Amino acid sequence: MEPFKFGCIVKDEYYCARPAQEAELRRHIVGGQNIVLQGERRIGKSSLAVKSVHNVRGMGLLYVDLLGIASPADFCRRVMDGIVELDSSRSFLKETISLISSLRPLVVLDRDTGLPTISIDARSAADPSSVLSVMSMIAAHARERRICVVFDEFQDILDLPEAGKTLAEMRSKIQFMSDTSFIFLGSVRNRMSEIFSHPKSPFFKSALEISVDKIDRGAFSEFLVARFIKGRRKVSREFVLGLMDRVDGVPGDVQELCDALWSVTDDGDVVDEMRIPAALEYVFSHQGSSYEMYLKQLTLHQRKVMRVLAALGGRHVLGFDFRDAAGIHNASSIKKALNRLEEIGHVYFFHDEYKFTSPFFREWILRKLG
Ligand SMILES: Nc1ncnc2c1ncn2[C@@H]1O[C@H](COP(=O)(O)OP(=O)(O)OP(=O)(O)O)[C@@H](O)[C@H]1O
Ligand SMILES: [Mg+2]
Repeated sequence: MEPFKFGCIVKDEYYCARPAQEAELRRHIVGGQNIVLQGERRIGKSSLAVKSVHNVRGMGLLYVDLLGIASPADFCRRVMDGIVELDSSRSFLKETISLISSLRPLVVLDRDTGLPTISIDARSAADPSSVLSVMSMIAAHARERRICVVFDEFQDILDLPEAGKTLAEMRSKIQFMSDTSFIFLGSVRNRMSEIFSHPKSPFFKSALEISVDKIDRGAFSEFLVARFIKGRRKVSREFVLGLMDRVDGVPGDVQELCDALWSVTDDGDVVDEMRIPAALEYVFSHQGSSYEMYLKQLTLHQRKVMRVLAALGGRHVLGFDFRDAAGIHNASSIKKALNRLEEIGHVYFFHDEYKFTSPFFREWILRKLG
């Protein structure tokens, strides 16, 4: 049994409790308050939202992931998948489907799972009223039972060709559902603020902003030690605290590193500092080819900036030392490279500092180019 999980929503024994934030969310979910939940990548936004909804007895979770959403039809399909998952056994599924009859829905049983799935006619879903129709379907469910609606990676709505219109249609329905809590999750801060903080946006100031921070250091290290023990490894609390620091305490990265350490050791082994090189090799054996590809796609300047950022950190990127180490004397060239690297998603800027989005990519660059 693998004691660590990463890259997915974690539940049950894989989830480390965050009592304060769960309690705060619980209060808002029960009160029908809409929330924007923001935080860095892999900090645990999705897991926290799902857990907080499940904490409220009888509350149904309508979870809709909007990652990479391509069209309004895609939006409709994803909402309906969420509804099927929420209520596959309930009879009024049929009734609510009639609400979207204009989309010509087709219910078929999945061959493997036996659960119903809904497919819709792509052309009719391209109809301008399709978003309104599925929003009405959500409202119909909310009248029937208490639900909390979670839109994950909500900022991706902005990639739709007529994003403003889609947002306006969503908002027009949501504002009448005052007893239902909608939770909007997003990891790209500037795009989320485009939606919730821009005066011209239909969602302007429509939800309470809450940020997801790191998990309490004491609680998380205790949790991780217990997971190592469960996985039949010996480990000290100090070592685990050091691991957390190594990847900036980001839960997804911490779990990935722990998983690698667990994978390169055997039952009864002591997991300590000596095992870290092998663990990193293990991570690189899975991700190294992607890293190679990322690097190939960069210009020479961008590569130099990545190398120096990995070695010196990202606080004084325009200072002499940084420019000297990169061999790029023009500060605006450094800035330009960093802007592009941020656009691609390899780095981000937070609290006056440029950082690697993935600490493992940083370690790999240090090893490769350092
Ligand atoms: N409460 C938690 N306890 C233990 N591990 C956690 C917790 N929350 C997050 N993690 C770790 O982080 C990973 C990512 O979690 P999650 O998907 O919830 O984060 P996210 O912020 O939504 O990430 P993304 O930016 O990719 O959407 C999980 O797979 C798990 O390894
Ligand atoms: Mg997420």
